[in-house]
Amino acid sequence: IESARKEREELYRILRSAADFFYDQLHHSPEGRIAREYIARRGLPAEVVETERMGFAPQSWDSLSRHLANLGYDVEPGIGAGLLARSTGKDRVYDRFRNRLIFPIRDEGGRIVAFGGRSLSADLKDEPKYLNSPETAVYHKGRLLYQLARAREACRQVRQTVLVEGYMDLLAFHARGFFRVVATLGTALTPHQVRILSRMSDEVVMAYDGDEAGDKAMLRGLPLFLQENVAVSCVRFPDGMDPDDFLRRDGLEGFEKLLRSRQELGAYAVKRILDGWDGSASARLKIAAELRPIFDAVRQPLLKSEYLRLAADRLCVSEEVLNQQLRHDRRTPE
Ligand code: GTP
Ligand code: MN
Ligand code: MN
Ligand code: MN
Ligand code: MN
Repeated sequence: IESARKEREELYRILRSAADFFYDQLHHSPEGRIAREYIARRGLPAEVVETERMGFAPQSWDSLSRHLANLGYDVEPGIGAGLLARSTGKDRVYDRFRNRLIFPIRDEGGRIVAFGGRSLSADLKDEPKYLNSPETAVYHKGRLLYQLARAREACRQVRQTVLVEGYMDLLAFHARGFFRVVATLGTALTPHQVRILSRMSDEVVMAYDGDEAGDKAMLRGLPLFLQENVAVSCVRFPDGMDPDDFLRRDGLEGFEKLLRSRQELGAYAVKRILDGWDGSASARLKIAAELRPIFDAVRQPLLKSEYLRLAADRLCVSEEVLNQQLRHDRRTPE
């Protein structure tokens, strides 16, 4: 146990050294100019870049690994921290993050535990747009939310947390003085994350990208919130816009207006599923089957009856019949 703690301390140390290196590269290297221009183009204020201690990972395969070696680090903690990787078969070690804008990821105590990197290359065909640190002894994706420490502080007053998908979305909020926001960073929401959110807030507002993928991801999150008995609502951005795009167009006032018009997520989900009904009797059965997971997960009788009313109305059946159908489906799974 003692040695595991020592090992983690070593990882924290090397992660901090890496963050300093990336920061330095962003501000003081000629190559970092590409990243500085990118930041300006995306409208991220210098203040946010500083507070976050954002950075830049150069193009080369070994600039960080050489830097860490010069500081006296062994290769192993570099690999353990997810900064370096060993090429398969060979004994060569290379930098995981190359030619990327670097976002430090901190744990709930504010310590850097991982990095996210956005590609700066013009052509995203042959590499992922974002690259994140792998799971390590100090970084468990499903147990952390991006900017949790900052949001927890801000949520003391207004116990409502906004949940977004991306780094840039989150920092666009920070840039405008809004801090009650965390991000899942593109991975599926976990029960653990929902419990964290439930402790710091009375309501979670999902604000995912205004596209099919964002909508689907919000709907997938619904059963988790229902099971944990957490109040959850959602806002829908105009088609094709994510929070970052929207904030740049309409500002924080625009978002606050959206926030006031938020919908309870379960009701939104029921409506969305019903939007897919073509009016036929046969499709009615299919829609009922799609609704079933929501009804199975909801704990609050009042919510359940609201969803039932909504769905029955739209399907032109009585609430009683719909309820019977949902029970019937449950007894006879395909
Ligand atoms: P920008 O294009 O920089 O505005 O990013 P975005 O945040 O709008 O990207 P997108 O909506 O495509 O994805 C949302 C979030 O999912 C990102 O912020 C990342 O955290 C994550 N993500 C997106 N693409 C990838 C990828 O290729 N790999 C991984 N691991 N994560 C990704
Ligand atoms: Mn883990
Ligand atoms: Mn998206
Ligand atoms: Mn997006
Ligand atoms: Mn975006």
